Amino acid sequence: ASESKGEEYIYTKGARNGPENWGSLKPEWEVCRNGKSQSPIDIKNVEGFSQLGKLKKDYKVAPATLKNRGHDIMLQWDGDAGKLNINGTYYKFVQSHWHTPSEHTLNGSKFDMEMHAVHENSKGERAVIGIWYTIGQPDPLLSKLLDNIKLSGDNKDIDLGILNPGLIKFGSRKYYRYVGSLTTPPCSEGVIWTIVKKVRTVSREQLKALKEAVHDGFEINARPTQELNGRKVWLYTPNVV
Ligand code: MLT
Ligand code: ZN
Repeated sequence: ASESKGEEYIYTKGARNGPENWGSLKPEWEVCRNGKSQSPIDIKNVEGFSQLGKLKKDYKVAPATLKNRGHDIMLQWDGDAGKLNINGTYYKFVQSHWHTPSEHTLNGSKFDMEMHAVHENSKGERAVIGIWYTIGQPDPLLSKLLDNIKLSGDNKDIDLGILNPGLIKFGSRKYYRYVGSLTTPPCSEGVIWTIVKKVRTVSREQLKALKEAVHDGFEINARPTQELNGRKVWLYTPNVV
């Protein structure tokens, strides 16, 4: 369906409120149209750079809520779920959500799914970790959430109790880094993006459950890739001398 029930923006290409037009729907969303460092992007021609530093995550168990936001399913941390350290700045882990298929592409290719782990520092600046998935073995976090994801179609927030963010595995120390934006309106810029190089797996059942639970019945919830406009994309590889 090109029009959806009550959503302000949708993913359908060419629709009045589709991705090409997000920036014209509201004045506060203008940067979706005229921003020069938007996300997602196609990752290619990366530059090796060993001094970026290891990804230091320090997550801890915390109460969580599962929310159906219409355009996606979000896992929100209600307590202190720990933090991420990027170049000496601490970013608090706020929420995770899933996009199908992936938003970032690699040399023009999409993956089946991309999870975003959104972090925020004390100034409200964001750092998002993106993890790509392809069909295969079940993902441990989604296994834990599967029944509740199926229930979340009813639009009520589901109290998950105490959950372990350690279920989110990066699986690799290698990552891509660039500076971009939120991939949904208001498309705010200045987001530090980290895309983990290792592609993880999700089962068909898990992927199906996520897609079916999203209220608006989108075929996809992935924004098309945006112009790089001269930005650099770095690849961090720990063993490069
Ligand atoms: C993003 O990853 O940029 C998001 O989709 C923004 C959000 O969480 O709303
Ligand atoms: Zn996202």
